[in-house]
Amino acid sequence: MEIRCSVAGRLLGPLCCGLFLFVLLLLEGSAVFQAYAVDVEVRDDSNVTCLYAKWMMNLSIIYESELNEYKSTALMLPDSVSYDGSSCGNEASGPVLAIEFGEGHLWSISFTKTENTYQGSISFTYNTNDTVLFPDAKRKGQITTFANYPSRPIELDTVFICHNVDSVEADNVTQDLWNVTLQAFLNEGSLSNMMTQCDKDMAPSVPAAPVTAAITTDADSTNSTTESNAIRTFPPLPTPEPGEKPATGIYSVKNGTTDCLLASMGLQLNITGKYSLLMNIDPNTTTASGHCGSTTAVLNLKDTNCEIDFLFAVRNTSSERFYLKEMNITVFDSTNGTQFSGNDNLSYWDTSLGNSYMCRKEETLVVAPSYKVNVFDLKIQPFAVKEGQYSTAEDCSQDVDNFFVPIMVGAALAGLVALVLMALFVGRQARRNAGYEQL
Ligand SMILES: *[C@@H]1O[C@H](CO)[C@@H](O)[C@H](O)[C@H]1NC(C)=O
Ligand SMILES: *[C@@H]1O[C@H](CO)[C@@H](O)[C@H](O)[C@H]1NC(C)=O
Ligand SMILES: *[C@@H]1O[C@H](CO)[C@@H](O)[C@H](O)[C@H]1NC(C)=O
Ligand SMILES: *[C@@H]1O[C@H](CO)[C@@H](O)[C@H](O)[C@H]1NC(C)=O
Ligand SMILES: *[C@@H]1O[C@H](CO)[C@@H](O)[C@H](O)[C@H]1NC(C)=O
Ligand SMILES: *[C@@H]1O[C@H](CO)[C@@H](O)[C@H](O)[C@H]1NC(C)=O
Ligand SMILES: *[C@@H]1O[C@H](CO)[C@@H](O)[C@H](O)[C@H]1NC(C)=O
Ligand SMILES: *[C@@H]1O[C@H](CO)[C@@H](O)[C@H](O)[C@H]1NC(C)=O
Ligand SMILES: *[C@@H]1O[C@H](CO)[C@@H](O)[C@H](O)[C@H]1NC(C)=O
Repeated sequence: MEIRCSVAGRLLGPLCCGLFLFVLLLLEGSAVFQAYAVDVEVRDDSNVTCLYAKWMMNLSIIYESELNEYKSTALMLPDSVSYDGSSCGNEASGPVLAIEFGEGHLWSISFTKTENTYQGSISFTYNTNDTVLFPDAKRKGQITTFANYPSRPIELDTVFICHNVDSVEADNVTQDLWNVTLQAFLNEGSLSNMMTQCDKDMAPSVPAAPVTAAITTDADSTNSTTESNAIRTFPPLPTPEPGEKPATGIYSVKNGTTDCLLASMGLQLNITGKYSLLMNIDPNTTTASGHCGSTTAVLNLKDTNCEIDFLFAVRNTSSERFYLKEMNITVFDSTNGTQFSGNDNLSYWDTSLGNSYMCRKEETLVVAPSYKVNVFDLKIQPFAVKEGQYSTAEDCSQDVDNFFVPIMVGAALAGLVALVLMALFVGRQARRNAGYEQL
């Protein structure tokens, strides 16, 4: 299978492949089922991409035969399909990807957006007059089914990623999609470097410890009517306490037995939009893990309901500096599903290698427009930690420097003037005294 453009490459760097409308439907050779790779870029009249879609898809349909039996058929896409009807839409309607094939089968997905999100709506029409697929269908004609994909809206300006199989059920049609990379409403035609992960992908990374905590909390808090197997994975999220400053946590990562990353900070999650949450990270229930390298270092902070991951990197440029390059935020919410946002293109806390970074004032780290982290009383050193101690700190408050320097210069000048005046005075006094003596 030829894939012209690696997703990783596209996500990490600028466009790695030519800018052209590229639609590829491939038949995965397998005797058991047919799987199709879709790799599409839909462009507008000015050649700007409005929809990028790449996924594996598997369609199966249950139909009733003339003998009143229910039969299952897997849909076969021929080598040549038509994508007439794919477009970037207009003011009223969003981008559409349409695939026409065989005897009157039509699969399409159209995207709509709200202020903060976008979502696809699948329309699949199959024609039971197609005697290859439905040799003995009782009911002849075109049947259309509809379904939303993904089931929950995606945050705008993020790429939707889902490696696990997600089954979309619509009437008698099952559409399995996996290895999905998708973005509609691209900003200036380029894929975002922020992503929204599907729930299925998040599930395996559910940390073990909080589950135990959750069960304990459940037993404590509920009036023991829910003793069945309905184990909730996570306790309900705490209600936001506006204005309350988070407690400062002291965290470290070890390399063997010695500390290689030191951090001390108070953290507050601020998620806005459809899903909104203001939550302080509680150092008492947060565990730190991670790893240290010579050019990157990772700090994972896991609280009961959420996880914040930091990746620090040494700048590649001539001066040896490090910075906060990447952050992931995951909120495990049993009612509304797992929320995730990540950004690997950050540039915070720029510091000389060998030093630590500190900031007493509140700082806001913007991971995505609606995912922010407020940081309080920060001190951090992800590289070159010696004997478990922080090295010289670089302070974030530029203000101090800006005021401090003029004040120092002013004070020095004033001192100099005073010295000169004193010298003059003393000199004159001395001359006068000399004069008196001469008299
Ligand atoms: C779109 O861009 C590609 C390459 O950048 C070019 O080959 C193609 O002609 C362009 N199409 C239009 C309609 O301008
Ligand atoms: C694809 O569809 C077939 C039924 O036609 C099913 O058995 C198979 O598990 C599906 N594969 C995936 C990966 O969804
Ligand atoms: C879908 O399947 C059910 C039985 O599972 C059948 O009664 C119904 O007619 C089917 N609908 C269509 C549109 O084929
Ligand atoms: C799906 O992606 C995984 C890696 O993420 C890869 O190993 C696998 O081959 C892909 N499956 C297909 C059918 O492309
Ligand atoms: C949270 O973010 C929203 C939107 O950016 C902002 O209006 C609000 O002041 C923030 N709240 C805090 C406590 O930082
Ligand atoms: C979760 O969903 C419930 C019910 O839809 C809603 O009331 C609640 O505000 C949601 N929680 C968050 C944090 O958005
Ligand atoms: C953490 O624990 C300490 C001592 O057990 C307690 O004083 C403090 O209030 C706790 N902090 C939070 C945020 O619960
Ligand atoms: C952030 O999430 C992405 C996608 O799951 C992952 O590849 C990356 O390693 C994560 N980064 C950190 C610092 O955990
Ligand atoms: C960063 O490092 C990589 C490999 O070490 C190198 O290929 C690249 O040119 C460097 N970039 C800069 C801006 O120095």
